[in-house]
Order: sequence, then C-alpha cells, then structure tokens
Amino acid sequence: MNVVMIGAGYVGLVSGACFAEFGARVTCVDKQTERVDALRQGRIPIYEPGLEDLVARNAAAGRLSFSTDLGTAVANADLVFIAVGTPTRRGDGHADLKYVYAAAEEIAANLVGYTVIVDKSTVPVGTAREVQRVLQKTNPDADFDVASNPEFLREGSAIGDFMRPDRVVLGVESERAEALLRELYRPLNLIEAPILVTDLESAELIKYAANAFLATKISFINEMSQLCEKTGADVNAVAKGMGMDKRIGNKFLHAGPGYGGSCFPKDTLALNRIAQEHGVSSRIVEAVVEVNASQKARMVAKIREALGGSEADKRIAVLGLTFKPETDDMRDAPALAILPALVDRGAEIAAHDPQGMAEARPLLPEGIQYCDSITEAVTDADAVVLMTEWNQYRGLDLQALAKAMRGDVFVDLRNVYERPLMQQAGLRYTSVGR
Ligand code: UDX
Ligand code: UDX
Repeated sequence: MNVVMIGAGYVGLVSGACFAEFGARVTCVDKQTERVDALRQGRIPIYEPGLEDLVARNAAAGRLSFSTDLGTAVANADLVFIAVGTPTRRGDGHADLKYVYAAAEEIAANLVGYTVIVDKSTVPVGTAREVQRVLQKTNPDADFDVASNPEFLREGSAIGDFMRPDRVVLGVESERAEALLRELYRPLNLIEAPILVTDLESAELIKYAANAFLATKISFINEMSQLCEKTGADVNAVAKGMGMDKRIGNKFLHAGPGYGGSCFPKDTLALNRIAQEHGVSSRIVEAVVEVNASQKARMVAKIREALGGSEADKRIAVLGLTFKPETDDMRDAPALAILPALVDRGAEIAAHDPQGMAEARPLLPEGIQYCDSITEAVTDADAVVLMTEWNQYRGLDLQALAKAMRGDVFVDLRNVYERPLMQQAGLRYTSVGR
C-alpha cells in the first residue's frame, strides 16, 4: 500500500514513520527543502523520543522516503494524508487552512487511479467537505474519496500514542475509503485498538471536542487551585480525590502554570470561532481560554510575592522553558508569557532547559542568560522557579542547591516537591494550590 504524508512536522513525521512500521510504503513530502535534506541524511528536525530510530529503521528497510515533489508521490499513492500546519490565523483565532487547501489543489492535479485523501491535521468541522469540493473543481475526472483521520498524539509520547491508541477515528463517506483505511490500520487489530467509523463532520468535531475537554480539565483544576490556596486545602489531594471517581478519571488534573503547546491553545480558540460562526455559544471553552491566560499572570504575581513584593534586581533561576517535558517545542509555552513579565520588572533571568533553549532564545527578551547546567543557573540566584517538570529537575540535591544560591526562595509551578523536604534544606517553598 502506497501512502503519501504531506507535511513532515511533529504529526506528519511521526504518523508517516508509524505507517511505515505497519508495513506501508510511505513518502513524506515537505516543502522545506532543508527539512527533506536533513531527513534524507537521517537527521530529525524535531525532538521526539524514539523517532530517530523509527525513521532510520524504516528508511533502511525502503519503506520510508522523503521528497519535496508532491506530484510524483501523489501519482503513485493509494492514500494521501494532509498533515500540514493549521496554525492559529493572526488576529482572529481561526485555524489557518491556507496550507491545507494549497496541498489539496496540488494533490488534485496529480491524482492517478482511485485515491483516498485523508485530513490528518486538526481542521475545523466542514473542512473535509471543502477539500472534496476543491479536489472536484480542480480535477473533475479524478476518482477519489475524502476522509478525516484526526491525530491524538501527545508530544513526547507520540509514537506510543500512535502504536497503542485509545481509539482510531475514521470519518468516511464510502465503503471503499473505509476498507482502505482499515487495511492500513490492520496491524492495530493485534492489540484490538477500537476503530470508530463515523461521518466526516463528527470525526472532525471529535478532535476539537476532545482537546477542548482536556483543556477544560486543566483550567478547572487551575481555578480550583486558587480556592485551595485561600482555604488551606491541597490541590493535589483534591485532584486525587476527584480522580478516584471513574467518571472523572485522574488524568489532566495537575495544577500548574497553564497549558501550552501547539494544540490546546490553538484548538480551543478555533472551536470558539467555529461555534461563533455557526451562531452557537461556547461559553465553557471561552472561560477555559480566559482562565488559562490568567493562570500564567497569577504565576508572575506568585513569584513576585515569594521574592518579598518585587523582582527588581533579583536573579531568578528558571528550570525548564518548554511547554512540557520530553519535547523541544516552545509553542505557547507558559514561559513565553511569564519570563517577559519578570524581565519587564527588572528581574535578571538565568534559564536552563534540557532541549528547548535553542528554540526559546529567539522568542524571549534579550539579556536572559542560557545556562548549560542547573548549577550554573542556580548559582547566586535569589530564587529558583521550576517551570517545566523535566525528569532532570525531579531529584535535585536541595542542600547543594541552597548552598549555591544567594537567596532561599523556591517556587515550584509544577508541584513536584513537598514542603518538608524544602524546609530541611532551609528553602522557603511556594507551589500552586497548596
Ligand atoms: C500541525 C498542526 O499544528 C496540527 O494542528 C495538525 O494536527 C497537524 O499539523 P505539526 O506537525 O506540529 O502539527 O505542524 P508543524 O510542526 O508546523 O509541521 C507542519 C509541516 O508541514 C512543516 O514541516 C511544513 O514545512 C510542512 N508544510 C506546511 C508543507 O510541507 N506544505 C505546506 O504547504 C505547509
Ligand atoms: C495534546 C493532547 O493531549 C493530544 O491528545 C492532542 O493530540 C494534542 O494536544 P500535547 O499538547 O502534546 O497533547 O501535550 P499534553 O501532554 O496534552 O499537555 C498539554 C499541556 O497541558 C502542556 O502544557 C501540559 O503542561 C499541560 N498539562 C497537561 C497540565 O497543565 N496539567 C495536566 O494535568 C496535563
């Protein structure tokens, strides 16, 4: 089975390599020549655990190749996946679909034989039908079907999420398209991964609704954390107690500096725009977005308070910059809102991150020091702020850290540590919701 994956980003590259692992012959097409050249030399342009080996193994087996020539690849394809970026459009929060439609037009001009064109990117409800129209208009004689196959990959665990999905969602309009997609996903039968077959619109909305609901859980617990701080409750205990109810589940109830990444911020905004466009309310998701923005602002106030009311002329060591661990992705990371606010008030920042500093540097204000080691960052610091819960920060030698610091403030934005441990090291500890 010949598969073309258009867009060799976080989603396209992982999906393409995993389909090759399933035995399909995959061509990943990307318009960035330097990205294709790097991939041909086995260099992976993004950090995703396990991806380098997966790509190398399948490229060596001749099942995975890279190209900038979309036309030739499409002409030989049974399935063509669109996994190009669908970033938030400047200003209005819509998902920017210009890359999706550009890809659709290019696909249409090169179709040979029956082909299924599949939306893998997160796209607004109705996009698959629109892609169908674009294909029809561009190439009326083409024999094709359109399908929606949204991705539920978390960065840092994307390969595992692909290989052991909770479900595969297929939005299809014909038996032929369904049969071809079932054939592609057949290896998942071994682990009996449920395949949900539905219509195009439902498949597209499942993706937005799932992401928006996960974001809702996070904003909910972040809002609860404020009440915990006022009442003396412990948000971790509250989350644990809630999560023991199977109907609630214990995942995505960690209070923190707010959610970031390339999906939740973009997908919640897009969902609100879709609702608005169709004249229906989305007050819950509107509130989720607002709570998330204010949570980041609350973190700045928390740090300021921990420093005795002002961060001016204070040296703050920030551990972690990426939006979550095990990624180099800085898209909408809370650090991008929190650090500039501290610098504006005269703080001096010494930052460390295992993977994200190269990505972060152009996105953050001048003057921030990027340290190659945790020790370098915390030396002479008045405060340490744990921003992202990388494993490297979970087992810090707090005695040594306290000795290297100039001050004694530790602000734990991910609730990794416990207060007694900090007190033993002579550190004044604040966290979120405890
Ligand atoms: C993107 C969207 O952000 C996500 O919502 C969707 O579910 C999947 O696609 P991601 O893979 O993270 O996720 O995007 P990105 O990392 O920006 O990669 C997109 C790739 O597509 C880039 O390599 C870009 O060069 C390529 N691209 C983009 C094309 O090849 N052709 C285009 O016309 C546009
Ligand atoms: C998310 C969805 O989980 C995935 O299904 C979808 O396909 C893409 O978007 P991702 O954005 O890669 O995946 O990361 P995720 O692990 O979901 O974390 C998203 C953000 O929420 C991160 O900033 C993380 O720090 C934050 N988060 C997550 C919390 O603040 N608390 C939690 O309990 C969980």
